[in-house]
Amino acid sequence: MRKGVKPLEDILSLDLTDEQKYFYRQKGFLSIPRITTDEEIAWLKTIYDKLFVDRTGEEKGLFYDLAGPRGHDGREELPQVLGPDISIPELRESIYYKNAKRLSRQLLALNQEVHVGGHMIYKPAKYGAETPWHQDEAYWNPEVFSNGLSIWMPLDSVTKASGCMQFIPGSHKGDVKWHRHINDNPLVHGLMTDDVDSSKAIACPLQPGGATFHHTRTLHYTAPNTTDNPRRAYILVCSGPEKKRDKPAYRPWQEEERQAMKAAKIDVEYL
Ligand code: NI
Repeated sequence: MRKGVKPLEDILSLDLTDEQKYFYRQKGFLSIPRITTDEEIAWLKTIYDKLFVDRTGEEKGLFYDLAGPRGHDGREELPQVLGPDISIPELRESIYYKNAKRLSRQLLALNQEVHVGGHMIYKPAKYGAETPWHQDEAYWNPEVFSNGLSIWMPLDSVTKASGCMQFIPGSHKGDVKWHRHINDNPLVHGLMTDDVDSSKAIACPLQPGGATFHHTRTLHYTAPNTTDNPRRAYILVCSGPEKKRDKPAYRPWQEEERQAMKAAKIDVEYL
């Protein structure tokens, strides 16, 4: 058993300490060395690779390049699969899923079940693109106050050079910043903000099966993958009940994308 690997019974009853919860509240992120087992990571890798080879759900808008314009015919530099559990419902029974829900409830201080969504972002070896600085809430429904967080788990060992998560501590305490589409092209789904002091970034290298948690507003980034190994990440988003805003938040980049998609006659079920 690898050093630092907990026995299965410990993984099935993971709890966060008060120090970890306090760290998350103060910094807006948290890194833990283990959220699932090596066996499950091996199983997830086979599922993951097949979803990307098959370009699962492409016709519905569930597979695309996050760093390139929709429908481009070159190689994908940051391919993404949305909602992998739609085609593989067994993912919802995984230890990862169960622990993501359990630990999210602890971080969000919720007693009830959380809603879970998921996506997978792949950074191919040597040329996988960066995911520029952004806050996840910039993508989300402007009509509500979000009450969620993202859990990011690598299936490969990750460093800054392969695209581990980097965070700006405390950035979750501010509002959603001004975002724009990568390359200022609204057909690129990926968003970025220029309003960030990256000298404050904290990188979170991890072994496969470790995980980071981040608040909906925490600024985060992953570098291009310059290594010889792929960087496979599986992200879950867990949310508690949302509160409707009196007036929607101003996030015009979302409408720009809808208009650009319409003009390009790209009609997908999931935007
Ligand atoms: Ni993000």
